[in-house]
Amino acid sequence: MKKFKFVVFVLIICCLSFALVACNADADEDPDAGKLPPAQSSEILVAYFSCTNNTKGIAEKIANVTGGELYEIEPVQPYTQEDLAYGNSSCRANTEQNSSTARPEISGSVRDMESYEVIYLGYPIWWGKAPKIIYTFLESYDFSGKTIVPFCTSGGSAINGSLPEIKALANAATWLGGRRFDANASQADIKAWVDSLNG
Ligand SMILES: Cc1cc2nc3c(=O)[nH]c(=O)nc-3n(C[C@H](O)[C@H](O)[C@H](O)COP(=O)(O)O)c2cc1C
Repeated sequence: MKKFKFVVFVLIICCLSFALVACNADADEDPDAGKLPPAQSSEILVAYFSCTNNTKGIAEKIANVTGGELYEIEPVQPYTQEDLAYGNSSCRANTEQNSSTARPEISGSVRDMESYEVIYLGYPIWWGKAPKIIYTFLESYDFSGKTIVPFCTSGGSAINGSLPEIKALANAATWLGGRRFDANASQADIKAWVDSLNG
């Protein structure tokens, strides 16, 4: 009887482990999620890059929920439809993503970056990664002592594959777990996420 109970116990543990792994495999959230430091809304920046407005919509909702300042990362040379036609291997977006040194130039800059403690950083997933203009952004400021919270939209790809490279570009910052959103995520979804980061 004891042996039977032990076998049942082991089976239950195995099932729970598989369930956990399965959940994590397609989870939208980075499993390393941490917590936000206390910050006034005036110390929160919501910076985003968006070509077809999906990420922009999410960024606006994060700004509504947090009271943070919205900042659009705007390329000097805007992306045309042809630039984004990723079925064409030589379109601009693909060429940039395939180059380790591409750093598309940003128009303008964040006024008074020093005043922000928490930076939500949003972007679309391009070939599993962040667009190279996000790399330009991260190399343009000193993020020491700041907390960066990455988020993205995508056709389905998770955010995790985009994180190691961008984290390495601002490794003096504290990075919280990233989050992927569907383009049509509601303000309630976003509020629940922000609340979860606040602990
Ligand atoms: C060049 C390019 C590459 C893309 N690569 C991916 C990808 O690897 N995985 C994915 O799920 N979606 C991919 N997408 C789709 C975008 O991530 C998705 O449409 C996103 O929501 C666009 O955001 P935006 O409207 O803020 O620009 C890609 C889109 C483009 C233009």
